[in-house]
Amino acid sequence: MAKYLVTGGAGFIGSHLVPRLLGDGHKVVVIDKVPWNEANNLFGLSSPSLEYVENSVSNTDLLKSLVENADQIYLLAATLGVRRVIENPIGTVITQFDQVREICAVAKSSQKVFYASTSEVYGKTTVLPLTEDLPLVFGEPAKARWAYACSKLMAEYMLLSLFRDKKVPVLIGRFFNVVGPRQNQSYGAVIPNFLSQALKGIPLTIYGDGTQTRSFCHVTDAVDAILAIMGNDKCIGHVFNIGTEDEISILALARKIKKLVNPSLGLRFVPYEDAMPKGFEEILHRVPSVNKIRQYTGWSNKLDLDEILSVCLKALKGV
Ligand SMILES: NC(=O)c1ccc[n+]([C@@H]2O[C@H](COP(=O)([O-])OP(=O)(O)OC[C@H]3O[C@@H](n4cnc5c(N)ncnc54)[C@H](O)[C@@H]3O)[C@@H](O)[C@H]2O)c1
Repeated sequence: MAKYLVTGGAGFIGSHLVPRLLGDGHKVVVIDKVPWNEANNLFGLSSPSLEYVENSVSNTDLLKSLVENADQIYLLAATLGVRRVIENPIGTVITQFDQVREICAVAKSSQKVFYASTSEVYGKTTVLPLTEDLPLVFGEPAKARWAYACSKLMAEYMLLSLFRDKKVPVLIGRFFNVVGPRQNQSYGAVIPNFLSQALKGIPLTIYGDGTQTRSFCHVTDAVDAILAIMGNDKCIGHVFNIGTEDEISILALARKIKKLVNPSLGLRFVPYEDAMPKGFEEILHRVPSVNKIRQYTGWSNKLDLDEILSVCLKALKGV
């Protein structure tokens, strides 16, 4: 039985990936800071093949021993959410740096490593759709918001160097707005926010004028994408966008949710300066090209936005 290590496995994406790995017959070791109790996303999984280690990836001796004993490694642990990043830029960077440094120190050429990167690494790049080979434009370091993107990009550089220099098989996925059940509502992600406001009957809060656009990918599609690249040796040493090309403005999204849940709801426009902490900069458009992952693996998303909203709504209602 192969043994897989997942850092940050109790998080939103991890809580969908881990059951898939267990279902495929693997032993899975999760390291996450979240305590093992009812609030933990994995608590309901009572599998003898799951080992849960409540600890930080910054405990490097522990991480080292977990890495040494793993056949595959999935690096998902991160500090997420614009507000949390701006409040804790150093912790944001250290979480990425500590786990990737340990991988670089001990991973062997027999261990496949998946790294969860982000669309944020495209920074202020304005060429659309975003392809993996684009030059990147970042904001000034004085703005704490960029700590997340820079630490993820640094991790990409370190891991791709590890592949080149030591032949450790590294694969990188840049996620674009993954949504679905168990997404942490406190991070300010727009779909969980709108849906929970709609269910409470309060106006949907739109930051800015709502012309900013995003594209959304259901978490089961994102997990399929991870497994598709991890299962294909041609993908080793490559970076892949994981998302959908279906762009929608935040205003159009709010109207869609209004129509779906409660057409009489109001919309409330809040200027960024009033809503976001100092150091915030909005990215107006962020749409991936998913040609590369399609060409390498044949992957494409199965759920469109209407289906995503329906699944998320049911999860929030608990039905
Ligand atoms: N959800 C998205 O739309 C999205 C988009 C881009 C990138 N990503 C990346 O995908 C990965 C998973 O994201 P998610 O949405 O599941 O986030 P999440 O916050 O739900 O999960 C991250 C997990 O990492 C854990 N963690 C944080 N710091 C840790 C540490 N020092 N030691 C151990 N565990 C730690 C958290 O407790 C949490 O359970 C992250 O690396 C994130 O940057 C996600």
